[in-house]
Amino acid sequence: MSDTVKYLLDEQHLPKTWYNINADLPEPLAPVLHPGTKQPITPDDLAVIFPRAVIEQEMSTEREIEIPGPVRDVYRQWRPSPLFRARRLEKALDTPARIYYKYEGVSPAGSHKPNTAIAQAFYNKQEGVKRITTETGAGQWGSSLALAGTFFGLEIVVYMVRVSFDHKPYRRAFMETFGAQCIASPSNTTEAGRAILAEHPDSTGSLGIAISEAVELAAQRDDTKYALGSVLNHVLLHQTVTGIEAKEQMAMADDYPDMIIGCTGGGSNFAGLAFPFLEERLRQGREIEFIAVEPSACPTLTKGAFAYDFGDTAHLTPLVKMYTLGSGFVPPGFHAGGLRYHGMAPQISHLSKLGLLNPRSYNQLECFAAGIQFAKAEGILPAPEANHAVRGAIHEAEKCRESGESKAILFNLCGHGHFDMQAYMDYTAGKLKDLTYDESEVAMALAGLPSVG
Ligand SMILES: Cc1ncc(COP(=O)(O)O)c(C=O)c1O
Repeated sequence: MSDTVKYLLDEQHLPKTWYNINADLPEPLAPVLHPGTKQPITPDDLAVIFPRAVIEQEMSTEREIEIPGPVRDVYRQWRPSPLFRARRLEKALDTPARIYYKYEGVSPAGSHKPNTAIAQAFYNKQEGVKRITTETGAGQWGSSLALAGTFFGLEIVVYMVRVSFDHKPYRRAFMETFGAQCIASPSNTTEAGRAILAEHPDSTGSLGIAISEAVELAAQRDDTKYALGSVLNHVLLHQTVTGIEAKEQMAMADDYPDMIIGCTGGGSNFAGLAFPFLEERLRQGREIEFIAVEPSACPTLTKGAFAYDFGDTAHLTPLVKMYTLGSGFVPPGFHAGGLRYHGMAPQISHLSKLGLLNPRSYNQLECFAAGIQFAKAEGILPAPEANHAVRGAIHEAEKCRESGESKAILFNLCGHGHFDMQAYMDYTAGKLKDLTYDESEVAMALAGLPSVG
């Protein structure tokens, strides 16, 4: 019997194409609407903030989309990423389950986010853009775009959600080291930020607010575009490089997942691992369960409404049909900043609505406990966001222990937690609490959903 721990692919096996799930959806996605006219949006509408190549990908239904050579050349710095068999964790849990994880923390920024940051920076550069604006929650996305800006010679401006800005000075320093400008959001640099500060001077910020600020800044200058780190089709598309690699690595292990687990903030890391396997379910009828894990304090898929909503707080973005807690909802300041988003990717929302995904939520304390249990067994300290997937995997492995079944569990360990030590220190010191989301605040935010004819 094999006792292999790591399944490694060499650079020759770096995928040449991304997988576009729009080609295989049982029903098409609802159209994206213009925020003013409420009519389906056109490529010209989007061209104010996105480069043309990205807009084409956003709307494409082609199954395979080529990964450009210069993007693959940068991917080569850390890709293909390893797939691990969690043998030590299995032993610690005394479970018959076979646990695998795809480890994206080996990227230079420490997470899966460079998979799309590199691609988006490349397309912007190709179209003559000089400056990109963005938001960041955990700081992983801002770090990734800062890195991509260095590789492609672009100026980067990052609006970092206030609570993360305060919790994570080293993430800010990381971005600045790569030459990016990092501004705490809400800020006085934009109309959107000033409006929030006038009403809530102590606002902890949210991804929705930071997106408004970044979009506002991008729309002001012709040489500036905006990049989003999750949610949109093209971002999820770029992340599929992980699932395509994982399929080959599972074959090396002579195994196949019974279930795939990922944490969901905007949905991109989960999609990246899940979609290439979902293709096999949709086209070949293979039985796999897809478990999307979110925080109980921001339970978009499990408690949100499936409706048209804005992607940001100031209502500058197009309207997309998604699970949402309402664009006015500001999630409590828990320690998985990357999961504090009111909405969910339209593709993930649509698949969940069709019954193809099984979403669930966990509290932050149980997620930290799971992350530490994982770290003690496997030696890798996960990002607080990734702890949600770890919690899900351990939960499923424990169910296998009870039932005696030997299922293959594959999860996305989407980032390391080396910049999140304050969160771990707070947890260890007993300072962290399980934050619940405020139901009345959500009800109010949902009451404000835009009406669409
Ligand atoms: C490590 C990590 N995981 C997950 C997420 C959530 O985003 P997504 O659902 O797009 O993967 C973030 C977002 O910042 C993150 O930094």
